Amino acid sequence: MVEAFKIIGGQPLKGTLKVEGAKNAALPIFVGTLIEKGTYILRNVPNLMDIRTLIKLLESLGLVIEKLDEHSYKIENKGITNLVASYDLVKKMRASFLVMGPMLAHEKRATVSLPGGCAIGSRPVDLHLKGFEALGVKINIEHGYVEAIADDLKGNKIVFDFPSVGATENVVMAAVKAKGTTIIENAAREPEIDDLCNFLNKMGAKITGIGTGTLIIEGVEKLYPCEYSIIPDRIVAGTFIIASLMFDGEIIVDGVVRNHIESFISKLEEMGAVFEIEGNILKVKSKLKDLKAGKATTMPHPGFATDLQSPMMTLMCLVNGTSEIKETIFENRFMHVPELNRMGAKISADSSTAIITGINNFSSAEVMASDLRAGASLILAALKANGESIVNRIYHVDRGYEKLEEKLRAIGANIVRFKAEI
Ligand code: UD1
Repeated sequence: MVEAFKIIGGQPLKGTLKVEGAKNAALPIFVGTLIEKGTYILRNVPNLMDIRTLIKLLESLGLVIEKLDEHSYKIENKGITNLVASYDLVKKMRASFLVMGPMLAHEKRATVSLPGGCAIGSRPVDLHLKGFEALGVKINIEHGYVEAIADDLKGNKIVFDFPSVGATENVVMAAVKAKGTTIIENAAREPEIDDLCNFLNKMGAKITGIGTGTLIIEGVEKLYPCEYSIIPDRIVAGTFIIASLMFDGEIIVDGVVRNHIESFISKLEEMGAVFEIEGNILKVKSKLKDLKAGKATTMPHPGFATDLQSPMMTLMCLVNGTSEIKETIFENRFMHVPELNRMGAKISADSSTAIITGINNFSSAEVMASDLRAGASLILAALKANGESIVNRIYHVDRGYEKLEEKLRAIGANIVRFKAEI
């Protein structure tokens, strides 16, 4: 039996939705505490399943982790006691592969299970490995595990074929203590990478070029533990902004950093949305009926984020005219399309392009979340559809949205969690 949401949609939603810390920044930063012994304090960590999964993995490697309050942790690194990240723990979450870089920095060796595929695509780790090899690491893949070993990590120039988020993070963490200077060209530029680099610099690393496609990492002998607070989650913020647009601006979003989601905001403005942003508070000043069709293509940051593609599609379903979304980052990221169509949407899609014809409203139905962001798009649709919808397999949603049903209930949604048959 797995958990599902029962949602009676069509209720007006009004109030404030608070954005917590960014999952995708918290994960690499947690992993970064493997690099050097000492006691770390991390704050503004979201309370999510993915964080709990990662904590189990880090504990299996020898870290002692204590929860101080809902969003803060104390992490004690007294040395890595186990140099093997097992399949059991890595298969649950791909980001687990990030332990390889810090373990190499700390111990010059690591054995990490290959993560395997996932619902949205095959997601290889070739770019991570290419980066490590450039630093002098010998890689051997056997029995589903990557064994990495180096006499010495040496700085080098690395040019990524594609600005992979995970590969950039992994290689940066391996390079901070390498001998000499590492230059990563075509590095990913996501705000979560900036946050990781700022954390590492607070530990004493020497990383420049942060926020650009060229990261320069001057290796240092030693780093020092520190206290750090994670940035807000721009994907959760974007999802809540879509909710606000769908509910005529009655929802205020608290925790928006505009320059983290600039292309998303300007895409929505192109479609007719009007925003008022003061500090981190965003208010929508337009009505759903005023929005017009739009076109969005997912791109590495600062382009339109693939993680906001499915919530955007839900909004486009409710907008007059024909919209289009092109997915260029993952090969299989339209699994919400047939589910949205079960709710009355008119979307036709091949593997990379979806054409969305506007409808008046969704019709309630039983649907299934196939991954985290797909789940969010279905919940948004169910909140709007009149009548009872069931969204199955919400364990996906729990990976990335903290206490979603409590937050939605507090602004007027009729949503309950229950144990379902599927
Ligand atoms: C991260 C995010 C995820 C987001 C994605 C793209 C985390 C924990 N997850 O995932 O939410 O959707 O960025 O913004 O931060 N690729 C290769 N070889 C590699 C690595 C990646 O071919 O070695 C390909 C992938 O298959 C994919 C594309 O590059 O098609 C993007 O992947 P990447 O940027 O690495 O995403 P993740 O770090 O896995």
